[in-house]
Amino acid sequence: MANSISNETRFLHVIEMGLGAWAWGDRVVWQYGRGYTDEDIRQAFQTSIAEGIRFIDTAEVYGSGRSERLTGGFLKETDQAVLIATKFFPFPWRLTKNSIPSALKHSLERLKAETVDLYQIHWPSPLFSPERMMEGMVECVEKGLTRTVGVSNFNQSQMLRAYSTLARHNIPLASNQVHYSLLNRSVEKNGLLARCKELGVRLIAYSPLEMGLLTGKYTMENPPPGTRGANYAALLNRIPPLLKLMTEIGQDRGGKSNAQVALNWVICKGALPIPGAKTGAQALQNAGALGWKLTDEEIAKLEAMSDKVLAS
Ligand SMILES: NC(=O)c1ccc[n+]([C@@H]2O[C@H](COP(=O)([O-])OP(=O)(O)OC[C@H]3O[C@@H](n4cnc5c(N)ncnc54)[C@H](OP(=O)(O)O)[C@@H]3O)[C@@H](O)[C@H]2O)c1
Repeated sequence: MANSISNETRFLHVIEMGLGAWAWGDRVVWQYGRGYTDEDIRQAFQTSIAEGIRFIDTAEVYGSGRSERLTGGFLKETDQAVLIATKFFPFPWRLTKNSIPSALKHSLERLKAETVDLYQIHWPSPLFSPERMMEGMVECVEKGLTRTVGVSNFNQSQMLRAYSTLARHNIPLASNQVHYSLLNRSVEKNGLLARCKELGVRLIAYSPLEMGLLTGKYTMENPPPGTRGANYAALLNRIPPLLKLMTEIGQDRGGKSNAQVALNWVICKGALPIPGAKTGAQALQNAGALGWKLTDEEIAKLEAMSDKVLAS
C-alpha cells in the first residue's frame, strides 16, 4: 500500500486527526448563534492547534461562507502552519469545469489564503460527471490554487472515474471524504475503505462522533436539538449497550471518554477522523483520542456490539 501513496499526497497519510468546521456558522443543523458563539469557536480552533491538530476541514456551503471566513480569521491569529481543506458544491446552476476554479477563488478570498492544501468536490452530481469535475480540478492544481485534489461522498465507481481522469494528468486523487463511525460502517461493508487503501487515497471520516451521539451525552429523554433529534430518534433507542461498552473500555484505558474511544477506533481502522468541535472543551477532549491505541481485542468487542446495535 505504501508504494501507491504519491509524494504529493503523503502529508495526508501522516495526519492522524483533523478538525471539522461545519458547525462554525451553520444555523440549519448546528444552530450557530444559539448556545455557542464565535468566541467558543475561536477556543475550539486555538485549543486544537495547541493540542497539535494541524488540519481543518471546511466548505464553501458551511454557514454560506461563514465557516471559511471564521477559519480565515483564525489562521491569521496563529503562527502555526495549518493545512486547510475546503470543498466545491455542484449547484445545478454551475456545472462547467470553469466554475470550479472560479468557486475556489471565492473560497480563497474568504480564507484569506493564496492556496489550499486539499480541494474537494463536496458531492457527486447526476448533472456533472466525475470526468468533467476533475478537468476543473486539474485547472485548480495547474493555477496553483490547490496543492491536492479530493472528492467527497463518491462511491467506488465515481471515485475510480475521478482517479483515472486525474491520472491522465499525472495528478493523484488525494482523498475521499465519507461518513464513517462506529454507527455507520458502510465503507467497510461496501469495500470503499479497502479500495482507498489499495489506491493510496486517504479516507477522511466525517461525522466520526455520529454528530455527537457517540459522546454518550444524548439519550431518548435528552435528544440532540434541531434536525438531529428527529433524524436520530430511532438510533438513540438502540445505542445504550454500545455506549456502555465504550465507557467500560474507556475506563479500562485510564479514563478515556466515549468521544475519545469513538475517534481512536476510526484512527485504528486506518481512516482520518475530522470531528467537529464548537468549544475549547470539546476540542480538548477530542484531542485526547491521540497518543494511544485500542487493542485488537477492544476493537473486536466494539465492532461486535456495533453490528448488534445496527442490526437491532
Ligand atoms: N463531506 C460531507 O458531506 C460532510 C458531511 C458531514 C460532516 N462533514 C465534515 O465532518 C466534520 C465532522 O462531522 P460532524 O460535525 O457532522 O459530526 P461529528 O464530528 O460526529 O460531531 C460533531 C458534534 O458533536 C458534538 N461534540 C463534538 N465533540 C464533542 C465532545 N468532545 N463532547 C461532547 N460533544 C461533542 C458537537 O455538537 P453538539 O455539542 O451540538 O452536540 C459537535 O458539533 C464536519 O465539521 C465537516 O467538516 C462533511
